[in-house]
Amino acid sequence: MSHIHPSKDIIGSKSRLIAGKRIALGICGSVACIKSPEIARELMRHGGDVWVVMTDAARQLISPDLMEWATGNHVVTRLTGGIEHVALGRGGEGSADLVLIAPATANTIGKMAAGIDDTPVTSLATTAIGSGIPIIVAPAMHASMYRHPAVLENIKRLQSMGIRVLLPEIAEGKAKLIDWNAIVEEAIAALRPKDMAGLRVLVTSGPTRTYMDRIRFLTNSSSGKMGFAFAAEAAARGAEVTLITGPVDAPKLNARVISVETTREMRDAVIKELSGSAYDLLVMAAAPLDFEFDRSFDGKISSEAPIDLRLVPVPKILAEAKRASPRTFVIGFKAEYGLTKDELVSRALARLTGSGCDMIVANDLSLPGRGFMSETNETYIVFPEGSTSHVPLKSKREVASQVLDLYLRRAGIC
Ligand SMILES: Cc1cc2nc3c(=O)[nH]c(=O)nc-3n(C[C@H](O)[C@H](O)[C@H](O)COP(=O)(O)O)c2cc1C
Repeated sequence: MSHIHPSKDIIGSKSRLIAGKRIALGICGSVACIKSPEIARELMRHGGDVWVVMTDAARQLISPDLMEWATGNHVVTRLTGGIEHVALGRGGEGSADLVLIAPATANTIGKMAAGIDDTPVTSLATTAIGSGIPIIVAPAMHASMYRHPAVLENIKRLQSMGIRVLLPEIAEGKAKLIDWNAIVEEAIAALRPKDMAGLRVLVTSGPTRTYMDRIRFLTNSSSGKMGFAFAAEAAARGAEVTLITGPVDAPKLNARVISVETTREMRDAVIKELSGSAYDLLVMAAAPLDFEFDRSFDGKISSEAPIDLRLVPVPKILAEAKRASPRTFVIGFKAEYGLTKDELVSRALARLTGSGCDMIVANDLSLPGRGFMSETNETYIVFPEGSTSHVPLKSKREVASQVLDLYLRRAGIC
């Protein structure tokens, strides 16, 4: 009787970005292996099937049983007549689509650089290098080990073989494994199609502010997540991405990031970018304020007497952007509150006609799971001729992916 391990019930719970992909996760003897279960589980939440391979030193620190629980798959701790390293690393049917070694020790990096394989992880690496499977290595070690010239040389050697090395971050005297979310993003990116290679993409994200004095401001609750999802997905699919973001914390992205605060600053940054270089696509996923205070006080306003402040509209960035670079395909956003689907679409169409942009992504913030702060969104994509496309409730990353598919088709790229 076939049996599906109960731990696999989370596969695809966040997205299907890497559905059907098999990832071989190599774990070495570094204390950073406490992050390996998190990495494995998150890859599964995005649809991946994770197969763990461990060194003896890793087994001294973390139990293979834990990794079997985490992944729902048998864990390779020694090579047998089943030639597990070849099964996972040879490429093709049944093999891994990606080898991720996280954490990677100085020892394993050195062996990989020299072509030595005497552990399950180094044997997997040798086979994978020879068969051209993408490999990502995330080193972790004490800072003194990381300063060893041979270790640094070995990392360079891995890079020269086409291996992606996620360089550690130095903190508390350690060369620490980078944030495990960033490792997961790198793994996802390695597995996405590269159908946006050669395209230049500008994305805006987050809210803006208008200040009444030096410390008080008006803003909105935009989290920036929709824009970050576009930036991450376009970069993962091979585009060169610039992100202009309002004052919210952005995750680690393979993008050039420009930070702004006010709507005017966002406008200036967008126009400067579009005037300075040739962008193929602009995604205006930010929620800049439509108003600003008519004046701003220096210092801190005293609360002893009432003050009159007026909110005055600021010019819309969208229309100016299209004028600044007519050849750039512009995707606008229209966030509404409590409308019927027909009203939502007709308001988006009116905005589209007025702004000259090429596609509008409309959503209703009043519905659960569709708001500024949420991880998910449901949108209607409206085109100039009035046709619409519905993207049902999905993770913001998957919404971004589907909108980018529509862009590529519309722009005749694929
Ligand atoms: C508690 C403990 C923590 C260790 N942490 C690291 C580490 O973070 N990075 C590293 O390169 N080596 C670390 N080592 C040393 C490695 O485990 C040792 O070099 C071992 O031979 C690596 O084998 P492997 O590469 O086959 O896993 C640690 C050892 C111990 C006992």
